[in-house]
This record gives sequence, structure tokens and C-alpha cells, in this order.
Amino acid sequence: MSPRSRGTSLLNQIRTGIGWDSHRLVRGRPLILGGVSVPSDLGLEGHSDADVLSHALTDAILGAAALGDIGMHFPDSDPRWKGCGSLIFLKHAQQLAAAKGYRLVNVDSTVILERPKLKEYREAIRRSLAEALEIEMDCVSVKFKTAEQVGPVGEGRTAESQAVVTLAADERG
Ligand code: C5P
Ligand code: MG
Repeated sequence: MSPRSRGTSLLNQIRTGIGWDSHRLVRGRPLILGGVSVPSDLGLEGHSDADVLSHALTDAILGAAALGDIGMHFPDSDPRWKGCGSLIFLKHAQQLAAAKGYRLVNVDSTVILERPKLKEYREAIRRSLAEALEIEMDCVSVKFKTAEQVGPVGEGRTAESQAVVTLAADERG
């Protein structure tokens, strides 16, 4: 059932999704966050480019539209996704949500990484995500946290990301 045929209540038209991801930090791999390559001696390990932020965002979009999760649409057993840029996953999730009648209106996210410092890359990451998603940069928030040297993130062994997105029923057609 399309969102429009469900009635016009505002509550029927807004959907929220949450996403989380984690990847190991290793030598010899790039550190790619939101499609931006950040200079670092350690990078993220994974089948694709292991862009932990894009993966969390992809799951948040799929979650908001109740369309499963990233592994369902892009299994890491599939050679097509080996070394692939994760903005492709993000855009595909957005297209699936659009096919269900929803457009992305807001993104909030947090990357939890001990080092390097990321704040000087914030605008580049926001711009990259906004361009990939074709929404205003003002609707894309990216935050950074350390884990205060505690646990696998704090010890610099992994990076995590969390994301929340809002979808709205697309009244444009
Ligand atoms: O984790 P903590 O509260 O100490 O982070 C303080 C600030 O440092 C954050 O608000 C963020 O702007 C910045 N930060 C960063 N890169 C990281 C972690 C945190 O720029 N990898
Ligand atoms: Mg991932």
C-alpha cells in the first residue's frame, strides 16, 4: 500500500530509521567515510570499501522504509560488491525507499573513531553525502566521537557509526 493510500495523517507520512555499523581498522586499507578518503595510517577492513558511515546510513534508510538491511540487498558473498564504493549502496537504498513512495528529508549520524581527528573533514563528508543523496547539505548532519580509549573502538581496533534518517511520503508524485 502506498503512503498516500494509507490516509493523510502526518503520522502516516513520516518514517524514522536507525542504522549502526562497525568495521575493523587495519594497515594497508583506506579510511573512507561518507565517500571521502581521510588520510590515516589505518583504514577500514571489509568486502566493499568498508565505509562504515555509508553502511550505517544505508541501513537507516532501509530501516525507515522496512526494506530489510544492507546484507540482504548487497551480500558480501557477491563478487559484484568487492571493493565497491559504498555510496552505491546508499543511493540504491534511497531508490528503493523512493519506489515505495518516500523521500529522504533528514540525516543525522555519528562516527565513533579514536583517531585521526575527523572534524576538519566534516564539511567534505556532509557535501559528499548530500551530493550522493541529492538533498541539501543543511539536511545532512555528521558528528564525531572518540570512545575515550575504552573498549575496541577506544583501543583503535575498530570504528563504529550510527545513523538516524527521516523519510517523508513524497507528495510530489
Ligand atoms: O569523544 P570526544 O567527546 O572527546 O570528542 C570531542 C570532539 O572531538 C567531538 O565533538 C568531535 O568534534 C571531535 N572528534 C573528531 N574526531 C574524532 C573524534 C572526535 O574530530 N575521531
Ligand atoms: Mg559495513
